[in-house]
Amino acid sequence: MQLQRKDILGLQDMTPEEIGLILETAKSSKDILARPVKKVPILRGKSVCTLFYENSTRTRTSFELAAKIMSADTTSISVAGSSINKGESYKDTLLTLEAMGVDLFVIRHGAGGAAHFAANTVKSHVINAGDGMHEHPTQGLLDMLTILENKGGFDGLKVLLVGDIMHSRVARSNLWGLSKMGAEVRFCGPSTLLPSEIDKLSVKVYTDIDEAIDGVDVVNVLRIQLERMNKGFFPSVSEYANLFGINKNRLRGAKSDVLVMHPGPMNRGIEITPDVADGEFAVITDQVTNGVAVRMALLYLLLGGGGNVAAA
Ligand code: CP
Repeated sequence: MQLQRKDILGLQDMTPEEIGLILETAKSSKDILARPVKKVPILRGKSVCTLFYENSTRTRTSFELAAKIMSADTTSISVAGSSINKGESYKDTLLTLEAMGVDLFVIRHGAGGAAHFAANTVKSHVINAGDGMHEHPTQGLLDMLTILENKGGFDGLKVLLVGDIMHSRVARSNLWGLSKMGAEVRFCGPSTLLPSEIDKLSVKVYTDIDEAIDGVDVVNVLRIQLERMNKGFFPSVSEYANLFGINKNRLRGAKSDVLVMHPGPMNRGIEITPDVADGEFAVITDQVTNGVAVRMALLYLLLGGGGNVAAA
């Protein structure tokens, strides 16, 4: 089966079949990652450009590694050091890079809808690497792959996302993806960090973490965005840690084989205690590895065509 779309903009508009295909292809991609020589020629001659208007360690690096493993050529553009700093518009930046022969853009931007704008502006493929508070589909997919590997499926699983839901594109992509695949999704956070439209979403909402965590299979801990602290969303970091932080004691309310996830970067000691982040239930570094596999799968499905990626 092929992915019948030009772009990956979000999980809200994706079918369960498409999500299933991406996850199966990502599983095959992990076979390549396990080889002593991690290099296949499948995307030779293709050009991938990461265009990031916001900071990133995991997403950007894993896309670049994924492209290089598959022998694509990569270019990396940030605001610093580019003509964006001289005032060049987003549209002109896209058209300029496309004119140089970019086949696929990976775009992170602070504005929701920026990846959709790019997809409508260029003929090249576009993958959304995070747009404002809207979606972060590749994070959602790598979280799903990590859950699938550990739990064997999604049907009936209870997945809790806790923290700054309002600003979290990770929470939204997880909600769309997991609920389409049959999981029950719960959101928990201070009422000031829950989005106003939350009652329109198919999600159980909690403001008490001990109620929210009861019997869950997965706890996905979101980063508290300290850069927003001066806006008064909660009184203090220590109060947040007391009321919503995931620690060993709190984790006892979840299932005995709970998975603890975090998209990173973590604020250790605030939303998650170090002993939980490094503990027996944590799969946080597995998520990072799966990020390379999911991004390989998406590059392959958009640029490489059909067949089995691991046969390359
Ligand atoms: N999870 C995530 O998007 O991390 P980066 O900001 O480091 O890419």
